[in-house]
Amino acid sequence: MDAMGPDATHRVAASGDVEVAAYLEIAQEREGRAATPEPGERRGGADAIVILDFGSQYSRLIARRIREQRVYCELLPHDATREAIASLNVKGIVLSGGPASVWEPGAPMAPGWVFDLGVPVLGICYGMQLLAHQLGGVVAPGREREYGYAAIHQEGPKSALFAGLDDEIPVWMSHGDRIDAMPAGFRSLAYSGNSPIAAMTNDKGLFGIQFHPEVAHTPQGKEMLRNFALEVCGCAGDWTPRNFVADAVERVRTQVGSGRVICALSGGVDSAVTAMLVHHAIGGQLTCIFVNNGLLRREEAERVRAVFQRHLGLNLLYVNASERFLSALRGVTDPEEKRRRIGNEFIAVFDEEAAALGEVDFLAQGTLYPDVIESQTPESSASHKIKTHHNVGGLPERMRMELVEPLRYLFKDEVRAVGEELGMPPEVLYRQPFPGPGLAIRIMGEVTHEKLETLRACDWIVMDEIKRDGLYDRLWQSFAVLTDTKTVGVMGDQRTYQHVAAIRAVTSDDAMTADWARLPYDTLARISARIVNEAPSVNRVVYDITSKPPGTIEWE
Ligand code: XMP
Repeated sequence: MDAMGPDATHRVAASGDVEVAAYLEIAQEREGRAATPEPGERRGGADAIVILDFGSQYSRLIARRIREQRVYCELLPHDATREAIASLNVKGIVLSGGPASVWEPGAPMAPGWVFDLGVPVLGICYGMQLLAHQLGGVVAPGREREYGYAAIHQEGPKSALFAGLDDEIPVWMSHGDRIDAMPAGFRSLAYSGNSPIAAMTNDKGLFGIQFHPEVAHTPQGKEMLRNFALEVCGCAGDWTPRNFVADAVERVRTQVGSGRVICALSGGVDSAVTAMLVHHAIGGQLTCIFVNNGLLRREEAERVRAVFQRHLGLNLLYVNASERFLSALRGVTDPEEKRRRIGNEFIAVFDEEAAALGEVDFLAQGTLYPDVIESQTPESSASHKIKTHHNVGGLPERMRMELVEPLRYLFKDEVRAVGEELGMPPEVLYRQPFPGPGLAIRIMGEVTHEKLETLRACDWIVMDEIKRDGLYDRLWQSFAVLTDTKTVGVMGDQRTYQHVAAIRAVTSDDAMTADWARLPYDTLARISARIVNEAPSVNRVVYDITSKPPGTIEWE
């Protein structure tokens, strides 16, 4: 696996969690200690479908749709070797779509082992063209690009792939090339206006479809993928949160033995569920470290302690390092420098606390599947660095611990389902993301005690009103920012000259893009009135109506 470059820091954070653990992850990856588990460690013996990714923007969606059928599914690069799937109980392969044409020089091909495994194969779009091209059919440039809605019409004997579907099926097409002649032994399953062969199969369980079943625009695509996974491949459909937890607990026990594990708890979803799962597996062998960096929201440190220590029973080491972080930030106004200092300070504090614990063998952290997928796709690492999220120096030599990453193959919503299975409260599992550098990147200019108190007061009011109006769960994030600008105002008969606070509320699916939320005026009015009344030294409130891009979600 490619080590994650600095750009990966943005991607890690793009999953939008408070992951202080990501500081450690990046530091480790920097030192070439990529956390690739040995084959066989991934997940128990669940039936699996493997998707070979030929670069379609929808590849991830295919994985999600198949997992929704309770079938474990992994996304691997198109040139993955057979060894890469050795630890999986593979029941079927999907060849994804992709931007290439089979006629282009160097166009990626399906590896030969795909056809030797003897399991069903589903080629989607470019994947179908590969089947045709590699097995002796003819792929030709379509007369015109077929893009958008189309209707396919089934023909010939009904296929298990289309079981329960009508003869005419609305689908989403996006392709240039098309199949002119099928390889020997194949028959057509459906045609569309522009594709005389829109779906095909042979009696060896190979299927090709020209359209995209994974997108919402193919309303019955879900049924097709379910048919493929359950009917054609014969997967049991038993990959449930409960079974996942049972498997993961076993794996953690096997990996850790009688060793000691530490975990940096941030209060965010990923590290919280990781800690709970590991705690479930090895109980007192796990010590969680929660560093209060002094940049947290009001009552956040108390909340984390109450939930994780008292309610969930974790072995929690609480470290109040507020003053240390604040002195590291004294006089610093540059956003990147703030992030750098906070990251370095975190590593230093964590290292000291871990060293004080004595011999520790393992570091548990909440790496999720999107980060794994990103790190195995070198092309995507070219994206331009916008902010240094977890971009910190390497871990000290003595902290060479083996990684325990039980959520490494899960998407965020699956992590939440696992958290529910573990009995964790919704307030923990459905929290809005909060950045690792905390309030420091929501205070413009130097971070001081006074500004922190002001921002905490504003932030508290925003949360209070957003929750009161039932908006919390509909927003990706909602928070206050303390600007460095002062304006003139009037309170009673007095002239005031005080700070401007800004309100930021956005909707988003993944934090990569975001839209400013159309908050009700009444909510905004109450927030504004309360802030100027209750928060010290703020006399004006503005609402940020910038989407991402061009704005980022955080102000720094
Ligand atoms: P931006 O500001 O880049 O933020 O649009 C995207 C998402 O990432 C969160 N964020 C961070 N999360 N450490 C984190 O764990 C960070 O350094 C960091 N910076 C931004 C941000 O809150 C949003 O959800």
